[in-house]
Amino acid sequence: MAKLAHAQWSSRMAFVLAAAGSAVGLGNIWRFSYMVGENGGAAFVLVYLACVALVGLPILVAEWMIGRRGQKNPIDTMADQARQNGKPAAWMGIGITGVLAAFLILSFYSVIGGWSLNYTLGSVIGTFSGGSSESIGEQFNGMLASPITLLGWHTAFMALVVAIVARGVTKGLESAARAMMPALVILMLILVGYGITTGHFGEAVDFMFSPDWSAVSGGVVLSAMGQAFFTLSLGMGIMVAYGSYLGEEINLISTARTVIILDTVIALLAGLAIFPIVFSNGLSPDAGPGLIFVTLPLAFGNMAGGTVLGLMFFLLLTFAALTSAISLLEPTVALLEERLSLPRLTATLIGGIAVWLLGVAALLSFNVWADFSLFGLNIFDFLDTLTAKFLLPLTGLGSIVFAAWCLDKESVRQELGFDVYDFSAWNILVKYIAPLGVITVFVTELM
Ligand code: PHE
Repeated sequence: MAKLAHAQWSSRMAFVLAAAGSAVGLGNIWRFSYMVGENGGAAFVLVYLACVALVGLPILVAEWMIGRRGQKNPIDTMADQARQNGKPAAWMGIGITGVLAAFLILSFYSVIGGWSLNYTLGSVIGTFSGGSSESIGEQFNGMLASPITLLGWHTAFMALVVAIVARGVTKGLESAARAMMPALVILMLILVGYGITTGHFGEAVDFMFSPDWSAVSGGVVLSAMGQAFFTLSLGMGIMVAYGSYLGEEINLISTARTVIILDTVIALLAGLAIFPIVFSNGLSPDAGPGLIFVTLPLAFGNMAGGTVLGLMFFLLLTFAALTSAISLLEPTVALLEERLSLPRLTATLIGGIAVWLLGVAALLSFNVWADFSLFGLNIFDFLDTLTAKFLLPLTGLGSIVFAAWCLDKESVRQELGFDVYDFSAWNILVKYIAPLGVITVFVTELM
């Protein structure tokens, strides 16, 4: 008996780690903090938290549920599930947009993963020691201005991702993730502690949690919703694929809650670490994608033990980025392998090179192609906006509408372990609140 209970716990644990490995990444630290800064702080944070709870949780559960029933790659899973439930095969469209979104995201994700690698090395050689906000800002701008530097680091990061995915050694990484998550949380706590010593912690807390509702526009709400999808790896078929490895005994709701709490806590700690540094150095919160690469080296460069802590931090950030990047490449590789019957190595190389090429276009938008724009955005921002604000929410909307309206109700109730009373509350959430929330955000933003 005891043995059985232990085995089940350990498999749930393994699953939580795999899902958290995908969810926790640059999105929590790099993207969350710069989005908070760009969107005016607290109003964004609170809308984001509401999106995570009311839209993110049900969609995460819906994606796992679809994956566990389908047991195949996201596209075929959607096609099978639609057929079995007497719905049009067009539902597999949401499998396709998901794989496309993952492909597009990885291209610019790898560029930022490259920055993180570069800053890991920078910490080792003590580049930031005693730096001022000017000198550290100049170093960052110097990196952006140099296509060769960016290209080198982007290539290095993508090469790591391809090497790991090609060998299929993701299992080993998952056990490493077991040590990484707590270490990351501890380092974030140390940084928050440093933030408290700056004397500007209160200002940061106000900035993050006391909202000026008049600053909320459709754009802020759409950004917050996009961030919720991005950070939870939703709307990409990734969680559908993970769900296909899930055993029957795993309770989806409580597992989703665990993953979401971990992901959200790391993001909020990142904000509480970064904004005190922003305010104490007179920096501007809306510095954009460079925010953590200017603030954190400044903190590490000026605190006791900063060299070692900085090295550990950027190493962990790179590691978290790698575990997410692997999950982003996997859908493309699986599709190439299965549809074109390519060997894994070939599929990984083709997928990896295609992503890398698009990443080159993204990194050039920081320098030589800075003036080139699509819909008023440079290539980097265009890829980020197209995916986070459009493809992910639309794909996620598709999966929740499918799970709520097309799957057999009684089997869903049993699968989720709800009594009749809780099930009606759940139904209201998945049938109306979450989908209408997503649709409302779209309609108000587009009008
Ligand atoms: N959720 C990851 C992060 O926050 C990014 C990611 C997005 C990973 C989509 C996989 C799929 O960094």
